[in-house]
Amino acid sequence: VPVHTLLNMDEFEEVATKKISKKAWAYYYSAADDLITKRFNTEVFRSILLRPRVFIDCTECNLNTSLLGNPTSMPIYVSPAAQARLGHPSGEAGISEACQSMGTIQIISNSASMTPEQIVANASPNQSFGWQLYVQDNRSRSEAMIARINNLSAIKFLVLTLDTPVMGKREDDQRFGNVIDELTEQASPESWKQRDKQAFAGMDPTLTWTETLAWLARHTSLPIVLKGVQTHEDAYIASLHRLQVKGIILSNHGGRSLDTSPPAVHTLLEIRKYCPEVFDRIEVWVDGGVRRGTDVVKALCLGAKGVGIGRPPLWGLAAGGADGVKRTLQILVDETKTCMRLLGVQRPDQLGMQHINTRLVEQQ
Ligand code: FNR
Repeated sequence: VPVHTLLNMDEFEEVATKKISKKAWAYYYSAADDLITKRFNTEVFRSILLRPRVFIDCTECNLNTSLLGNPTSMPIYVSPAAQARLGHPSGEAGISEACQSMGTIQIISNSASMTPEQIVANASPNQSFGWQLYVQDNRSRSEAMIARINNLSAIKFLVLTLDTPVMGKREDDQRFGNVIDELTEQASPESWKQRDKQAFAGMDPTLTWTETLAWLARHTSLPIVLKGVQTHEDAYIASLHRLQVKGIILSNHGGRSLDTSPPAVHTLLEIRKYCPEVFDRIEVWVDGGVRRGTDVVKALCLGAKGVGIGRPPLWGLAAGGADGVKRTLQILVDETKTCMRLLGVQRPDQLGMQHINTRLVEQQ
C-alpha cells in the first residue's frame, strides 16, 4: 500500500500490523495487564470538547515552537521507542531522516536497534535530538553511554525514564516470544557488537531524587528531562529549582508499565489545580494515545509545550520506511493546523483553557 493513500494513524496501524512479524507486532502493540491505561490514553481525548470561536481571520497558521530552546517546526516530537528495526531495516535512522525533512525533534531510545552515532550520522546542522536513558544496575555501562552522548553535538538534552523501575507485565510479549533474538538475526555482526555495548543489561531499581540527579550532573551538562511523571506531587518536586531539572514528560509509557495509571490529561489537570507554578518553572511535555491533531491541540490547551508520539512513527516506518514516518508526521501537522484554524488560533502559544471544555473528564 503506497503510504500517501493512508489518511490517519489507525490506517497506518492496520497496514503496519500486516507487514511485520507477529513477534514485532506484539512488541509494538503490547501494554501492561488488561490494556486499560493504553486504551484510556486515546479515549480520554475524546471526552474533551473543543470551543471554536468564529469571525477570526485564519489565513495564517503556524506551528513553529521550541522545546528547551531548540527550534522545531511543530509541537509534536517523536518519543523514544526501542527496536525500530523490527519495523523496517532503516530503523531509527529512517525516523531521523523523516524528522529532518519535517523539521522536528526525535528522542532516541536507550534501547534503540542502532547506535546513537549511526542514528545522527546524516543529521542536518540544525536538527535536534534528545537521548533517553535507562539507568542500568551496572552504572558504569550507563556512564560509558552518557560519555558517548556528550560527544554528539546533535543531541541537545537527556531524557531519564522513571516509570519502569521494573518491567510491566506485558502478556502479548510473553505469548509471542523474545524480539531481541529476531533483531540479532537481522543485524550485521559489526553493528551488533557496537550496539551490544549500549544494550540493556538490567534496570537499577535504587534511583532517588537526590542521589540519581546528582550522579547524572557529574556525568553530563546536557539539560535533564524526567519521563514518566504521573502525579502532581512528583511534577512539583521535579520543578524545585535546586534539582535543576529542565522539563518533565507526563507519560505512562504508552500503557506498557503500570495498568490503570493515569493518562497525561489527568495529570495535567492535577497540576493545573494543585501546583500551576510548575508550568512556569519547567517545560511540561506529554505523550500517550495521541492519534489526531485535535489530541495535540487539547494537550497544548491544558498547558503542554510538547506532545510526543510513540507508536505512530513505528507504524509509519513499518508501512513505508522514512517516507511512512514523514507521512504520519505530515498528517498530524495538517490535522493540528486544521483544528487550530477552526478554533480561530494562529499559533500554539495562543491555545488555552478557553478553547476546551473538560467537564466530562473531571467527572471521570
Ligand atoms: C516505548 N516507550 C519507550 N519509552 C522509553 O522511555 N524508552 C523506550 O525504550 C521505550 N520503548 C518503547 C517501545 C515501544 C514499542 C513503545 C510502543 C513504546 C514509550 C514511549 O516513549 C511513549 O511513552 C509511548 O509510546 C507513548 O504512547 P503512544 O504514542 O505509543 O500511545
